Amino acid sequence: MYYEYNIIEDVRNGNDIVEVIGSYVSLQQKGGRYFGLCPFHKERTPSFSVSPDEQLYHCFGCNASGNVYSFIMQIENYDFIDSVKFLAERIKYVLPEKGNSAESAKNTEIRNIIYEIHKNAARFFYSNLNSSEGKTAVKYLDERKILLNVRKKYGLGYSSKNRNSLSDYLIKKGYDPELLVKSGLVFANKNGGYYDKFFNRLMFPIIDVQGRIIAFGGRIIGDGEPKYLNSPDTPIFKKSNNLYSINFARKSGVKEFILVEGYMDVISLYQAGFHNVVAALGTAFNDEHARAMKKYANSVVLLFDSDEAGTKAALKAGPVLMDNGIRVKVLQVKDAKDPDEYIKKFGREAFSDLLTQAKSFALFQIECERKKYDFKSMEEKIIFTNKAAEILAGFDNAIERDAYINETSLITGISKDAITNEISKVSQNVFINSHKKYNKPKHSTSVQGIDDGKQNLIKIMSLNYNVYKKIREVLSPEEFINPIYIKLIKIIDDFYKRGQSIYSAEIVNFFDSLEEQQTVSKIFITQKEFDDPKMLEKAVNDEVKAIKTFYISNVLMPSSQDIETLQKLISEKKSIDNLNITLSDG
Ligand code: GTP
Ligand code: MN
Repeated sequence: MYYEYNIIEDVRNGNDIVEVIGSYVSLQQKGGRYFGLCPFHKERTPSFSVSPDEQLYHCFGCNASGNVYSFIMQIENYDFIDSVKFLAERIKYVLPEKGNSAESAKNTEIRNIIYEIHKNAARFFYSNLNSSEGKTAVKYLDERKILLNVRKKYGLGYSSKNRNSLSDYLIKKGYDPELLVKSGLVFANKNGGYYDKFFNRLMFPIIDVQGRIIAFGGRIIGDGEPKYLNSPDTPIFKKSNNLYSINFARKSGVKEFILVEGYMDVISLYQAGFHNVVAALGTAFNDEHARAMKKYANSVVLLFDSDEAGTKAALKAGPVLMDNGIRVKVLQVKDAKDPDEYIKKFGREAFSDLLTQAKSFALFQIECERKKYDFKSMEEKIIFTNKAAEILAGFDNAIERDAYINETSLITGISKDAITNEISKVSQNVFINSHKKYNKPKHSTSVQGIDDGKQNLIKIMSLNYNVYKKIREVLSPEEFINPIYIKLIKIIDDFYKRGQSIYSAEIVNFFDSLEEQQTVSKIFITQKEFDDPKMLEKAVNDEVKAIKTFYISNVLMPSSQDIETLQKLISEKKSIDNLNITLSDG
């Protein structure tokens, strides 16, 4: 969901960049700027600067750069929308929800109370665990070797045997029983009384990326059915799009997440020092999970239980992740039923070693297929080979592919040529399909010098309307080739059309990804301004000519289909020399 632009600007304007960054980095004023040690790379002398006038930051050491949203995205590892939410929260700005506004204000209020109910419930469960009531639960945690600091970190608790304790406690605190029911933690009975959903269970708070408790999982202590009970979907919780421990994983600093099946696996791995671990909450892994993950990770190791259910789940999760642009590797634990047991049995070193043995998803698929066939039968061999060819056709690494062709040939006795043949048949279809899907035409023609000139020109255009007009008369956005520059110029067009001045920090809002934001704000912060009008005019002419020439030679000429067009382009290129933009009489 995207917020309206004026809201994004309201929130940005309400969050002074010096104040926000000042709460993370100690800043010293020098001239018109503030300086401090860069939080994004190690340094001993400050090269990180914050400009109160431009409301931008820039590190001259590592090139980190952006507006206040970029900073929050970078330091908290949030996406754009989450950083808007975070900064809105900071200034108590109420963001609208979908729907009409009176109703949405009420929904926001309800949601806020449900968050509060969860916070209180978590505290209640936590104190239960550490009271005499919680003895068996504590003993259970001891047996499972969960250390004290990790219990605290995950806010583990205990729900009492008494089925009214939480509802009584929350009602006494003054919460509306109807909202308690909405929170999913309390049921109403026929006689107008209330009772708790969770009782006599070990409680696992489920926490969202913003660190709010949104639900609970409750494990039976010892054996029994059902082993786990989870919160139902509520106004603040959807089972199918939340990942357990994502709040810690996103801060792990690792872009490769480990996906496990159970709460206990997550906690065990965390305790062993692997903080980049998450689990789906007992539901099948789906697109929403993948998208949530994609914000913080570009690659995932599937580490599922070694039983049949675990294998099936991994086979299903892999394609979901890959479809969302996440690389997938697979790891299976040996001589242990799940990662938790593995690490307890063999220790963290062994697990660390195991991690390095993660295999590609395709190989995992092939190995799973292999188990289904009897290679004594020629027919089954052929079916398997066809399956394997299908999988191998998806491989983009030729060396790996070759190795697997070899192996497939060895186990089936079918010749390598036959397998390769089969693959290339499948490949053609795969190639055509994937080409349609991913390979939108793009220009890779970018050269450092030219790039600098383009950035320089964009900054110049943003500073003065008259100069902008002169430049735009002879230069179109497409001639900048790079999509970010094209978008920037179109934004500048829109601003001027509405009679607005260009504020660099505002322009950054139009770019969602941190990478783009960095590029954009770097243009505004590092490109020079010209005091001398003659120098400015010369720079404008030089850059415009260079950009036009580059565009003709690198984009138009290579794609021209006939001699006539080519000749036209050559003469056009020549005429660029005669171009002369005068700024003084404007
Ligand atoms: P331990 O057995 O204590 O090690 O728990 P685990 O976290 O390893 O769980 P397990 O591997 O058995 O199951 C994986 C996940 O599936 C759990 O963490 C739960 O989220 C979910 N799950 C397991 N059993 C149940 C159940 O009975 N009901 C529901 N709703 N979810 C379950
Ligand atoms: Mn387990």
